[in-house]
Amino acid sequence: ASVPVAVIGAGPAGLMLAHRLSRAGVDTIVVDTRTRREIETTHRAGILEADAARDLVETGVSDRILREGHEHEGTELRFGGRAHRIHFKALVGESVWLYPQTDVFTDLADARDRDGGTVHFGVKGTEVLDITTGTPRVRYTAADGSRHEVRAQYVVGADGSRSMCRNLVPEDRRVRYGKEYPFAWFGIMAEAPPSAPELVYAHSGHGFALISQRTETVQRMYFQCSPGESVDAWPDDRIWETLQARVAGEDGFRLKEGPILDKSVLRFRSFVQEPMRWGSMVLAGDAAHTVPPTGARGLNLALHDVKVLADILLRALGTEGEAALEDYQPRALQRIWRAQNFSHWMTRLLHTPPGGTPFDLRRQLGELDNVVGTPAGRTYLAVQYTGWPVGSQA
Ligand code: DHB
Repeated sequence: ASVPVAVIGAGPAGLMLAHRLSRAGVDTIVVDTRTRREIETTHRAGILEADAARDLVETGVSDRILREGHEHEGTELRFGGRAHRIHFKALVGESVWLYPQTDVFTDLADARDRDGGTVHFGVKGTEVLDITTGTPRVRYTAADGSRHEVRAQYVVGADGSRSMCRNLVPEDRRVRYGKEYPFAWFGIMAEAPPSAPELVYAHSGHGFALISQRTETVQRMYFQCSPGESVDAWPDDRIWETLQARVAGEDGFRLKEGPILDKSVLRFRSFVQEPMRWGSMVLAGDAAHTVPPTGARGLNLALHDVKVLADILLRALGTEGEAALEDYQPRALQRIWRAQNFSHWMTRLLHTPPGGTPFDLRRQLGELDNVVGTPAGRTYLAVQYTGWPVGSQA
């Protein structure tokens, strides 16, 4: 078999790319080692920037986000035991949408089914061959055990933070930039009503907490923990005690508690690999770059990559050929490094580093005060959190 574009990875990046290409009449095949059920039941991010939400609707993926998502015009920063609202809409004219990544995935997978796109979940033994030629090939074993080979003109590695595609760029020709953090997030799903109308990013002297939401009856929350933490050491009452302590303040704010449905420890890092292209293979999303979760940039960045990449692949498949791919990395990288900086900045702004001194804590409170207490500070946060307007390039 032969298709113009073969995509490794059926997460939001791979599926959105396939959707965009199919709208322009270009066939794809998408393969993923995970089953559709595995992807749908793995909790991931929750916030989409307004542009990404609009793209889901306007490119015809689905308008479910308009019915089931929640538009948030701001977010809350809590520190020193007090709440400070950042009003995105008033500051920069944009909002964000609370709409879980698992729902974005479901919408995209359903759209592929509806439009007759080829997606194979649960494949094994994926091999990408001959990417330095004009006729790369992808081999895989389908879920039914049959072995397949597909010829393509271009291969896209959208295979996530543990990408095998990025290893196909020769070791002596690639650079990997990265940073590890001395903390992780403990994530829970709880059966309870929302505790606040918008997200709450909480700084405290004993660690960060994030109060997010899913539905009227299910809430998503996280608190800073050590990277080696085990969920077994955390019975429900210890979790609630920890979360309550991190959001406590003179205003008497309390989280609404309920049965905890899911617990997991989420480790994270900052990472970028360059180049994002080797021969006829290009990388998109987490395969090329990952960010710490604070500030909800990861999914949005991946969707931006494939927006840029879809246009470039169409040019490459048209009259321009492979030379068009040279535009991809420079066009994607500006936003990638802006997001790397923002995610790192917001992580450092809100987390308590192990071994931090009283000076460190007071300096951090000074920085938070600069962010919420000045128009420039609030706008700086709002511009980045809502995803940089078109025309903000230097
Ligand atoms: C969620 C996750 C994030 O990392 C974030 O910054 C905001 C929300 C979430 O899962 O809801």
